[in-house]
Amino acid sequence: MIILAIETSCDDTCIAILEIKNQKSKVKSFEILSNVVSSQVKLHAKYGGVYPMLAKREHQKNLPVVFKKALKRAKLLSGKIDLISLTVGPGLEPCLWVGINFAKELAKKLKVPIIPVNHIEAHIVANFIGENSTPPIFKQGAGRNSKLFPAVCLIVSGGHTQLILMTNIGKYRILGETRDDAAGECFDKVARILGLLYPGGPAIERQAATLNLKPLTLNLRLPRPMIYQKNYDFSFSGLKTAVLYDFKNRSPEIRKSKNYIREMAKEIQRAVIDVLIQKTLKATKEYKAKSIILGGGVTANNELRKQFQLTISNQQLTINFLVPPKIYCTDNAAMIALTGYFHRPQKEQYNLEKIKSNANLRLE
Ligand code: KG4
Ligand code: ZN
Repeated sequence: MIILAIETSCDDTCIAILEIKNQKSKVKSFEILSNVVSSQVKLHAKYGGVYPMLAKREHQKNLPVVFKKALKRAKLLSGKIDLISLTVGPGLEPCLWVGINFAKELAKKLKVPIIPVNHIEAHIVANFIGENSTPPIFKQGAGRNSKLFPAVCLIVSGGHTQLILMTNIGKYRILGETRDDAAGECFDKVARILGLLYPGGPAIERQAATLNLKPLTLNLRLPRPMIYQKNYDFSFSGLKTAVLYDFKNRSPEIRKSKNYIREMAKEIQRAVIDVLIQKTLKATKEYKAKSIILGGGVTANNELRKQFQLTISNQQLTINFLVPPKIYCTDNAAMIALTGYFHRPQKEQYNLEKIKSNANLRLE
């Protein structure tokens, strides 16, 4: 079976092709034949954020090119495609529609069904790309618990910060989420205050990493919002405001100094990571989770990955810790392809008229 997946929910135009061999046997094989991501980062960097109508235009321009590239890399003709897997939400409405319209035309031409996919679920499923694709008996790799579920999933991206209880593929309950800015959005906004380029997360990570061996001199201390509250919600907009106040109260020389920018980057990264880890571990214990599963652009952050691992080992938790390879943390269509496979139609095909966007689609 060949699945072609389309992802245009934000500012990356993505198409991937997934081949599943031995589909009827217990030992299936999954291979990503191509995974093309055309990033609009340079365009949006000029404005410090994503403008939906600009992103839509870029998707319209890029999608046919990305499609050809994906087929070429997979060494495939379009006639071989059995199924189209498509992000329908959550995301930016105008951007989602570019993918949807493209998918519908292709589906009509090839006479294949479209599987609508939730982008957040796909960030979770990104962990199972490759060897671990066969549910419900996932191979555990270096995992320390033979069962995978229940799992606590932490999804942290530019648009979302959610803690989700997962009892199987397709079975989710949102335990908590951000009440204002997402963690990635907080990095993007703070980076802008500090004069760093969009996207802010990688820029902050790079600045903070330069300080690893040096002692800090400015003694900056930001709040850890909601860290000890009993719920699983988050709030990151106050952090951005705290950075802004500190920045405004500094002399122009300090503000521009490399040291200030680096130390502030390190402290904001630490503050966000502290809150994410504390809340995730609290949920893990309360729900007796067998696994912690991370996903979304922010989980590409090395310090976040390292601190999670350290905390799990310091607390001697018997738990599987899953985080995707970095290329599958940020937006991509490989994760959309595999999610579509898990939800493929068994008998009847989907009615194309029913496929529509849902900018606020929720995972429940
Ligand atoms: O999942 P994603 O690619 O797109 C959305 O679904 O939003 O996430 C993008 C977000 C951006 O806010 C970006 O700044 C953040 O992920 N990000 C990072 C890193 N790489 C991307 N944040 C921290 N550290 C990183 N290395
Ligand atoms: Zn995403």
